[in-house]
Amino acid sequence: MTVPQRTALVTGGNRGLGLAIAKALHDAGHGVIVTHTPGNPTIEAWRQAQTQAGYTFATYGVDVGDHESTQELARRVAADGRQVDILVNNAGITRDATLRKLDKASWDAVLRTNLDSMFNVTKPFLDPMLERGWGRIINISSINGSKGQFGQTNYSAAKAGVHGFTKALAQEVARKGITVNTVSPGYLATEMVMAVREDVRQQIIAGIPVGRLGEPAEIAALVAFIASDAAAFMTGSNVAMNGGQHMY
Ligand code: CAA
Repeated sequence: MTVPQRTALVTGGNRGLGLAIAKALHDAGHGVIVTHTPGNPTIEAWRQAQTQAGYTFATYGVDVGDHESTQELARRVAADGRQVDILVNNAGITRDATLRKLDKASWDAVLRTNLDSMFNVTKPFLDPMLERGWGRIINISSINGSKGQFGQTNYSAAKAGVHGFTKALAQEVARKGITVNTVSPGYLATEMVMAVREDVRQQIIAGIPVGRLGEPAEIAALVAFIASDAAAFMTGSNVAMNGGQHMY
């Protein structure tokens, strides 16, 4: 079967899980736009290195938590003659602390980047998908949006909110050829997880039945499937992949 050439946009696609997703979608034959935080001084060198490795990515700087920045992104993408068929809302941050120690700035930063971004980024790309009658919106949540995590009231709340957003939007666009799904990864071998204190991280790994961290490419393969035509009947789902750490 020939895979139609579609265009995907992956927020935070220049590293970690986002990069693995960008590569998997590229491998599936799609054009891929990667967004990164604005003013990243190494992005051009990064893009060239990816090109040399066989991955041609278009790159755009955007603050997904900033409404105006995301509107500007949509304008620039359209002005460059690109349409987004597959949107992966992946960009996310952590600011871990117990609620007693959590400050307002860390609450706001996580809610803004991880949850406000769902509205900010999805809205401008939705109308063109509706006009074309085809679209895939894949929102990256987390195991901790479902089970909660000591030290992550902000992150758990935002990630639970992501799936609420998915379920509501999935109903609104189900008849229009657009699917909206959540993917909830467990703990992966990425910088974000490596930033967790060593002793805490080892304790978490000990609680994963398969006995290891996940690989970003494992989650990315799932995202590529959801983005495909074969997944047309799948919408409003929250697909977990966490090595058995949380079963539901
Ligand atoms: N349940 C119950 N009690 C716990 C606990 C837990 N899971 N973890 C720690 N405690 C207890 C400790 O035993 C300790 O008790 P005492 O005061 O009686 O000794 C107390 O709580 C304080 O614990 P810490 O020393 O850990 O507290 P801290 O303030 O130094 O550190 C923290 C807090 C930085 C948030 C740390 O707990 C932590 O890093 N937690 C892990 C957070 C985490 O999993 N982040 C995931 C990041 S990756 C990601 O988010 C990607 C994804 O989607 C999965």
